[in-house]
Amino acid sequence: MSTPPQGKLALPKLAEMKRRGEKIVMVTAYDAPGARFAEDAGIDIVLVGDTAAMVVLGYEGTTVPVTMDEMLFLTRTVARSARRPMVIGDMPFGSYQVSDEAAVENAIRFVKEAGADAVKLEGAGPSLSRVRAIVGAGIPVMGHVGLTPQSATMLGGFKTQGKTADAARRLVDDAVALEEEGCFAVVLEAVPAPVAAEVTRRLTVPTIGIGAGPDCDGQVLVYHDLLGLSEGHLPRFVKRYASLSREIRDALESYAEDVRAGTFPEEQHTYEMPAEELEAFERTTDNPSPSRPRAHATKRSSTPTNAQLPAPRSEPPLRKTSSP
Ligand code: KIV
Repeated sequence: MSTPPQGKLALPKLAEMKRRGEKIVMVTAYDAPGARFAEDAGIDIVLVGDTAAMVVLGYEGTTVPVTMDEMLFLTRTVARSARRPMVIGDMPFGSYQVSDEAAVENAIRFVKEAGADAVKLEGAGPSLSRVRAIVGAGIPVMGHVGLTPQSATMLGGFKTQGKTADAARRLVDDAVALEEEGCFAVVLEAVPAPVAAEVTRRLTVPTIGIGAGPDCDGQVLVYHDLLGLSEGHLPRFVKRYASLSREIRDALESYAEDVRAGTFPEEQHTYEMPAEELEAFERTTDNPSPSRPRAHATKRSSTPTNAQLPAPRSEPPLRKTSSP
């Protein structure tokens, strides 16, 4: 593996944070703005989660359909913009279930083609040899136990896991086995808090909880859930820190109203041209009426003549990312 760029959170730092009792902050992101916001907020780990299936790609209630190519595309956009946070590519369903070889090949694609620093995969059992193989290829792996959405059907739906003594014991054993196979951290999803606390006590690598109580070494939430971009039912473990979907809806409604009422664009949104150029231009057109819409001084005067045209305004700066 190549040396991580300067400023990138180094992998061993995460275990150090656990030892020091310093909480690790992880959030999902799926595009460059999300990655930049996470970077600026000082987030430690950005997960390009396969929740993209639901929150970005429009599949309802399942992460299964998202493909390797889609995940690589999203991971690449995040990796380009997240400098300090560690970027983790979430291996989608089908990309590691078939064989250790396929798992290694796909993990390599995340690192080589998409710029991920590490990958995450779900489950223990058959996933253990995948973890060993990928780590053996030099790629760090984050484990994920408890509610593993890719196998939600087998688990009987999106349900809390480890609620019986037996199931809790199995969950602890699975997490320990993932650490033994080389995982550098383990996500615990929808697990009773005391079970997550026991896993956290047993592991030397950090646990990252989502619906797993306060004793995990870190926490992760889905970007759209914490920002209030997701609508409809949310799991009880989500805390909303903003209501962006309301703001977006209001903004789009206001824009639509303005366009329909003719109150947008206003003069400050409109480009001018030098008066003499405009005059010359109008001499070449067959409708030189001063009252028809033009690129300058609309609404400045009800019947402006060319002689009354205001001095040309300086050009506003053009945005780099879109046409002027
Ligand atoms: O895909 C995802 O977003 C995840 C997190 C919920 C941990 O796996």
